[in-house]
Amino acid sequence: MADIDGTNEPKQFFTDVPPTSEGFYLKGSNSLDWGMKNRLSRIFNPVSGKTVMLAVDHGYFLGPTAGLERIDVNIVPLIPYADTLMITRGALRTMVPADTQKAIVLRVTGGASILTDLSNEDLAVDIEDAVRLNVCAMAVQVYVGSEHEHQTLLSMTRMVDMGLRYGIPTLAVTAVGKEMVRDAKYFRLATRICAELGAQYVKTYYISEGFETVTASCPVPIVIAGGKKLPEIDALTMAYRAIQEGAAGVDMGRNIFQSVAPIAMLKAVRAVVHENETPEKAFELYTTLKSEKK
Ligand code: 5RP
Repeated sequence: MADIDGTNEPKQFFTDVPPTSEGFYLKGSNSLDWGMKNRLSRIFNPVSGKTVMLAVDHGYFLGPTAGLERIDVNIVPLIPYADTLMITRGALRTMVPADTQKAIVLRVTGGASILTDLSNEDLAVDIEDAVRLNVCAMAVQVYVGSEHEHQTLLSMTRMVDMGLRYGIPTLAVTAVGKEMVRDAKYFRLATRICAELGAQYVKTYYISEGFETVTASCPVPIVIAGGKKLPEIDALTMAYRAIQEGAAGVDMGRNIFQSVAPIAMLKAVRAVVHENETPEKAFELYTTLKSEKK
């Protein structure tokens, strides 16, 4: 029991200092609970308001794709340079050291492979496992406009409900079926549906025309996927444009882990996302770090 002898009389009440009631820095997140805000602040840097997520969850439908043959060898050394790791529970438990301090975004949907209909996904992880793994967000794939639109949107709302119960944000990942057109109209529809159904943030693709209308009409933060491997300068240019047009970060995979210098590329992407560096300057940084093997 605490020793109460000698306890001083409280007197520092700062009666002239009004209590703080600041808004939360992330778009659309002010009404969330403390735990959810705290987790989001581990994903989105509180100074820049942005995030560089490293996506390595491709194996859940693709198997051991190029660059992800050995997550313990290829990816673990990159973790210190990312803000967040987006990964499956199997890869996390088997290949990532549990003393990592980085925020984990857990892929929680699955159920299809490249050999069948990719859109036939459902929840594949229990919220209790996300809690056990101490994750900062749960990623749910949605296929707006596809045969499994209804099923994937309702999977997302189930995760949002459970996430609200436990204070874990849901990231809605908008996947685009082969038959869908990737344009601003489609992404405005898909991202807005995800936000209105409760996702705390949304991942989508960058498009060169009208992306600013997608970010403007979505009331929660948007991060962009990197997509297929591009020359480094092109990937940096895409990230730069996305940030300048309202994205809150990137969730990049192949353009980082398939680069010949993944750490140099991660640092260059960080400069674009967190410091508004131009793609040309960031590419110079990439080239210098690559030659120094950093
Ligand atoms: C798979 C995903 C990936 O995480 C996403 O596509 C990001 O990786 P990349 O930058 O390689 O496209 O959501 O469904």
